[in-house]
Amino acid sequence: DRSLKIAPSILAADFAALGAECEAAEAQGADWMHLDVMDGHYVPNISFGPAICAALRPHIRKVMDVHLMIAPVDPYIEAFAQAGADFITAHVEAGPHVHRTLQAIRAAGCKAGVALNPGTPAEAVADLLDEVDLLLPMSVNPGFGGQKFIQTVVPKIRKLRDMVGDRPIHIQVDGGIDPSTAPLVAEAGADVLVAGSAVFGKGSVDAPEGYGDAMRAI
Ligand code: DX5
Ligand code: ZN
Repeated sequence: DRSLKIAPSILAADFAALGAECEAAEAQGADWMHLDVMDGHYVPNISFGPAICAALRPHIRKVMDVHLMIAPVDPYIEAFAQAGADFITAHVEAGPHVHRTLQAIRAAGCKAGVALNPGTPAEAVADLLDEVDLLLPMSVNPGFGGQKFIQTVVPKIRKLRDMVGDRPIHIQVDGGIDPSTAPLVAEAGADVLVAGSAVFGKGSVDAPEGYGDAMRAI
């Protein structure tokens, strides 16, 4: 399904009310919920781990999309699968055996994604296309919400879309997505748009209609 989907990133939500934030975002039209896991090692920030993902599962009716910004990945795959992840995405740069990691994600019963940092060329995932359900070219350097969109992702998305061909692989974009950048990445071939601050920066649990407006604008 290559229709455009919005995946709000809860990194920009109220961490004291994550369950309610997920429910409100879905009620306002979120297609997937994007959970950013950071370890303070692979990226210079720490967010949350499998226990929070598991606690959120009953509050997410749609796709639970877990973006792992951690290294190593393999020791934690089972925990995120047990937490109820539908998609688990690992970075191509996060270890020497990403092919094995992607196979392990599928073996754990999840869909497998592979993310590419802004400095990593599309070719880095050329030999992984039979192992993945999702490609995630990052449009910021991972670690923080609210950063500026990096334009070189647009031709990279086009290249990935060509490489994918007829395979049923999603192309997701993450970082700096707002009403001005969303059309660029959608036109280039992305079908899942992650947005943190553009969605949650405006709304709040107290004013959930803000999410809907933000998502419609994207
Ligand atoms: C960045 C995360 C993103 C982030 C996006 O490391 O992977 O998902 O939350 O935030 P915005 O949309 O604010 O750039
Ligand atoms: Zn993310």
